[in-house]
Amino acid sequence: MIAQCRVELALPQDAGEIARMSRAYIEQGLPWSWTPARVARSIANRATNVVVVREEGLVIGFAIMYYADTLAHLQLMAIRANRRRAGIGSALHLWLEEVARVAGISEARVEARSDNPAARAFYGRHGYEELRVVNGMYHGICQGVRLRKCLNLD
Ligand SMILES: CC(C)(COP(=O)(O)OP(=O)(O)OC[C@H]1O[C@@H](n2cnc3c(N)ncnc32)[C@H](O)[C@@H]1OP(=O)(O)O)[C@@H](O)C(=O)NCCC(=O)NCCS
Repeated sequence: MIAQCRVELALPQDAGEIARMSRAYIEQGLPWSWTPARVARSIANRATNVVVVREEGLVIGFAIMYYADTLAHLQLMAIRANRRRAGIGSALHLWLEEVARVAGISEARVEARSDNPAARAFYGRHGYEELRVVNGMYHGICQGVRLRKCLNLD
C-alpha cells in the first residue's frame, strides 16, 4: 500500500523532531549520531533531500536521501510507531526514488541493522537485494546489512 499523503521537504525547525525520532526508532542502544545539528546540515545540503509527512502539524514520518552522480543513498527513515503499515514509508521512499530517477541515477543503496526485520522486509518489498551482512557496522554493537536496488531508467 502507498498512502495518499502529502510528502514535503523538511524545514530547518523539523531537525530536532527528526533527530529525536532517529534516536528513539533507529539508533536505540547505539550512540546518538543523527543529532539535531547533523539533521539540520542534511536539510541545508543541496545534495540531500529530507522529506516528511505531517499530521496536524506533527511529523509522523521522515526519510533522508543523499544523491551522488550515479548513486543515491537512503540514509535514514522512520515512521511513528502508531502510524506504521499504512503506506507512509512507501510514499516517502517513492518520492525520493523518483527524484533519483529524474536525476539519471541508476542505483540506490541503503544499510539496515540486521536485527531489524521490519526494515529488511520493507526494503525487500521495494525491490532492494541484500548484498551482505557486515560485522561491526554499527559501532561494533550490532551487524548491518547492505542492500542495493537498480533503478530502471526510461
Ligand atoms: C521500516 C519502516 C520505515 C516502514 O515504514 P511503514 O510506513 O510502516 O511501511 P509501509 O506501510 O509503507 O510498508 C510497505 C511494505 O513493507 C513491508 N513491511 C513494512 N513493515 C513491515 C513489518 N513490520 N513486517 C513485515 N513487513 C513489513 C510490507 O511488505 C509492507 O506492505 P504491506 O503492509 O502491504 O504488507 C517502519 O517500520 C519504521 O519506521 N521502523 C522503525 C525505523 C526503522 O527501522 N527505519 C529503517 C532503518 S533506517
